[in-house]
This record gives sequence, C-alpha cells and structure tokens, in this order.
Amino acid sequence: MNPTLIRARLLTFTRCPEGPDDDTSYRYIADGGLLIEGGIIRAMGDFATLDATGATLIDHRPHLVLPGFIDTHLHFPQTQVIASWAAELLDWLNDYTFPEETRYSDPALCATMAARFLDRLTEHGTTTAVAYASVHATSAEALFAEALARNMRLITGKVLMDRNAPEGLRDTAQSGYDASAALINRWHGKGRLGYAITPRFAITSTPAQMEAAQALAHAHPDCHIQTHLSENHAEIALACELYPQARDYTDIYARYDLLRENTLLGHTIHLSDREVAALAEARARPVFCPTSNLFLGSGLFDDARLRGAGLVNGIATDIGGGTSYSMLATLAEGYKVLQLQRQRLHPLRAFDWITRGNAEVLGLADRIGTLEPGTEADLVVLDASAPPAMAQRMERARGLVDELFTLQVMGDDRAVAQTYVAGQPCKAAQA
Ligand code: GUN
Ligand code: ZN
Repeated sequence: MNPTLIRARLLTFTRCPEGPDDDTSYRYIADGGLLIEGGIIRAMGDFATLDATGATLIDHRPHLVLPGFIDTHLHFPQTQVIASWAAELLDWLNDYTFPEETRYSDPALCATMAARFLDRLTEHGTTTAVAYASVHATSAEALFAEALARNMRLITGKVLMDRNAPEGLRDTAQSGYDASAALINRWHGKGRLGYAITPRFAITSTPAQMEAAQALAHAHPDCHIQTHLSENHAEIALACELYPQARDYTDIYARYDLLRENTLLGHTIHLSDREVAALAEARARPVFCPTSNLFLGSGLFDDARLRGAGLVNGIATDIGGGTSYSMLATLAEGYKVLQLQRQRLHPLRAFDWITRGNAEVLGLADRIGTLEPGTEADLVVLDASAPPAMAQRMERARGLVDELFTLQVMGDDRAVAQTYVAGQPCKAAQA
C-alpha cells in the first residue's frame, strides 16, 4: 500500500508540561506533515520540507492532529449500565453492574458488543484502551479478536472474582488461574495486544484467589495488573474487614505482590500517607476516573498529593461508572475535580496526559502517545469549531493553548473529525 501523507496542524508532547507557558514541552507545527507507512509514522515535519514522493495526500487543514487518546481504565461489559441510578459504588455494583455482566457468558453477545465497544472508543478519538472484561474468558476472547482484526492496541483481561458476586459471575481460584493463563498464552503480545491480570478488587477475591493472581503475576512480569483501590468508604471498610491481617487496603494488594510498576490502580481516592508511600515505593500507577468519581459520589482524587510523592498518575473514563467515552469530557470533569481542591489542570498538561502521559503510565511511550517517527500511527483529528457552541467560543480564541482549553472544557466526540488506528481512518463521518 502507498504511504499516506497527512497535512494538518500537528501537536505532540515530549515531556509533562510544567505550566500553561511551558512551550519547550511540546512541538507544534502550524503547517505540518506526517508520513505514514505500514501503520507507522515514518516522518514528521513541516509539510513543505517532507519528501513524500508517491504518497497519498490527506489534507486535514485547518484541523489539529494529535496522537490518539489513551484510556487507561474502563469496563467492556458496562456500556449498558452507564447512567444507572444508584446511591453509591456497592449498590451500583450489586443492583446493576453485576447482573449486567452475567450476560457476557454468551460468545455471540460478546462478539457483537466488542465491535460496538471499539466503535464507541474510536469515534471519541480513543485509540488505545485498558479494559476490564467480565469474569468469562469468552468476553476477553471477543475483545482481543475484535481489536486484532482492527490492528488496534488494546490491553484487557478477564476479571478474577470468586466471592461476593452472584451466581454466574464467579470463577474459582483454580479456574480463574487456568483461564487467565490460557488467555495470556493465546493473546499476550499478539499484534498490538497485551494481557492485564485482573483481580477485580479485594472484596470479590478470596485469599486463595489473590494467591492465584500473585502466581500469575510472578509468572508473567510483563503483563499489566489492574484492580480497584480506595474508591469509596464502604468499599474500604469491607475490604479491610475481609483481610484483617492487612494494615490497610493498599497492604492487601502488597501482601500478594500485586503492586509493581505495571500495576494500574483505579481511583485511589481515600489513601493514608502510609498507603501513598507504599504505592510510591512500588512505583504503581494510580488512575484518576473523574466522571465516575463524581457520578458515584466517590470523592476527589488528589492529583497533586500523589504526584508530590513521586507517583505517575493516569486518567481514564471508567465506563460504565464513568459517564462519557470521551477523554475530552473526562478532562473537563477532571479540571473541575481539581478546581475544588485548588489544583489547576492546565490545557498543556491535560493534552499531554491523555496522550504521552497515559502512554508513560502504561510503559508504552516508545510506541504510542506521540507523533515521533518510528511510533505507531494512532491519531486523532480535532476540530474545535465543529459543535456550534464551540465554534462561537472559538471566534474569540487566543491561540493554541486557548483552543486546547476550549476542547478540554467543551469537547466531546463531535470535535473528533477523524481517528486513525495504525494509519487507517476509522470514523465513519469523514470531515
Ligand atoms: N470496583 C470494583 N469493580 C468496580 C467497577 O466495575 N467499577 C467501579 N467504578 N469500581 C469497581
Ligand atoms: Zn473500574
């Protein structure tokens, strides 16, 4: 296939920006060219200076091209529990989410929903996702198969849960171990796929299952681990009651050696200083899920405190506790959560976070999250003037950072003109 040359305004980050004026943290090319071949970015530069003989030109001017967005925590079987009326986390899980996830024992349903799930992601500009599947191996199978067919980078894992969940949604320590090991064998490292060992949270795993997760984690150090930590007060109390030997919630995971550099911990809201220090020492990765934390009334993620301890935080939608697939809408709610704590999420940091920053959180910054030559050609094309209300705001835009802030506060899928996965456009309505 011919190489493709994309002409647009280009924006890519080289490190985490320190403030809204930190203009050495990114590269912005006002009339840029990206040369793509075989799903890889081969060159990035001024359009006029790129040698692109034989390439097919796609002109996205005046839109802004960034690396595709990365969502570091969401749930594949929860697309139809978004907007479920519940007082708080444990009611929401028991009354809506667990019953819904039992449906994912059906391979045909899983296949249909996997395609719909990835369509939703890419139409919102998300090109890499770290997703929880259901307890059923078939749900992870279906999601892997669909992502492979699209050549999409995806990390998922079947959830391990052997207690405190309804019939039809429990495995056992042994069956969970066997099913996870088989999935790792079959899918981890295939194409752009990776496996995440996924004990759902301490409440739904017996100590025997935590030992099984530990054994899986030891056997597969390059697999991610994902779980939930310290989201809600009732959850914390129950987790600590179930593991009375543990010093605190974080210590439950530490005791089973589940905290390491490629461990992703959803929420991490109500942590003691000891827990923050333990996470920092393990270099584990907290993940901020603002729309979910607001929707379920879980609490306010203290980004500055965790960063101050040396942690590298991710940001994510947490569909379906979260209420939007859009990483832009996620940034908007993240901004407000941090505003309430007198922390400021400035637009450069925001856009670095959902691209290069989340790639760093996943240990994948050499492959995704930037527009650097040699990395994978996952891109999002943003049009801040597509929705009428944004167009009206944009009439008064004062440069790039102001445009980014408008996208951060008002943006959603309507501002995504196109999404490229491994160099292929995949949003139906082409700009
Ligand atoms: N804790 C355990 N499972 C879940 C889940 O599915 N969503 C959220 N938000 N928290 C959890
Ligand atoms: Zn979650």
